Amino acid sequence: MTDTAGFLATTRTFYDAIADDYADHFQDGYTRRPLERALLTAYAELVGDKGTVADLGCGPGWVTGYLAGLGLPVFGVDLSEGMLAVARRENPELRFEQGSMLELDIPDGELAGVVSWYSSIHTPMDRLPDLFAEFHRVLAPGGHLLLAFQVGDEPRHLDRPWGHPVTLDFERRRPDRVVELLVSAGFALHSQAVREPDESLGDTAPQAFLTAHKASRAAD
Ligand SMILES: C[S@@+](CC[C@H](N)C(=O)[O-])C[C@H]1O[C@@H](n2cnc3c(N)ncnc32)[C@H](O)[C@@H]1O
Repeated sequence: MTDTAGFLATTRTFYDAIADDYADHFQDGYTRRPLERALLTAYAELVGDKGTVADLGCGPGWVTGYLAGLGLPVFGVDLSEGMLAVARRENPELRFEQGSMLELDIPDGELAGVVSWYSSIHTPMDRLPDLFAEFHRVLAPGGHLLLAFQVGDEPRHLDRPWGHPVTLDFERRRPDRVVELLVSAGFALHSQAVREPDESLGDTAPQAFLTAHKASRAAD
């Protein structure tokens, strides 16, 4: 696994330490997030019966399980064995694999869909083109990408969450900049939505949701 900057190892260590608390925190299964559920439902309709979807950086597998419940053939990939243990426990019927979404063990053009739900936030900006190139590589022509991330300009530092002795940086991003990078990687934007922060959910920033598809031809 190529990890010259060490951010993959740092991310894995962080999520291994907090996996159970993170899963407890989101235990409500997004019942208080109707927009997110609606966007996932729309995404599932876009993909339809075209093939398999990978939930990359699946964490405890809530989105994986939700999409499976909507009828999509879906599996999860995550760096963190701690997160994968939770995902397998919560979704025993689904497949979860350890790996980095920057270097997927998936053939070219294999997938109908790629979901990166708050998982690209730990990939440094200078590696985002590599990440989007990898998403593009594994998608079939016309395949659909769904990205969720926090909106903003400033990097954030997570320090000792739930008292665990670990720290991690993540990046908030401007949707227009992310769209530019997606287009450069060969994607065509399909939709963008921004939800204002909801204090009752603990949000401290707007939340962005983008869908894009892998252009079928250069002119698409
Ligand atoms: C903020 S959590 C989001 C988890 C889940 N998608 C959710 O919304 O609940 C970020 C997840 O992305 C995973 N992750 C970050 N970078 C990754 C990479 N390069 N490859 C695979 N997983 C990654 C982390 O291990 C962590 O489980």
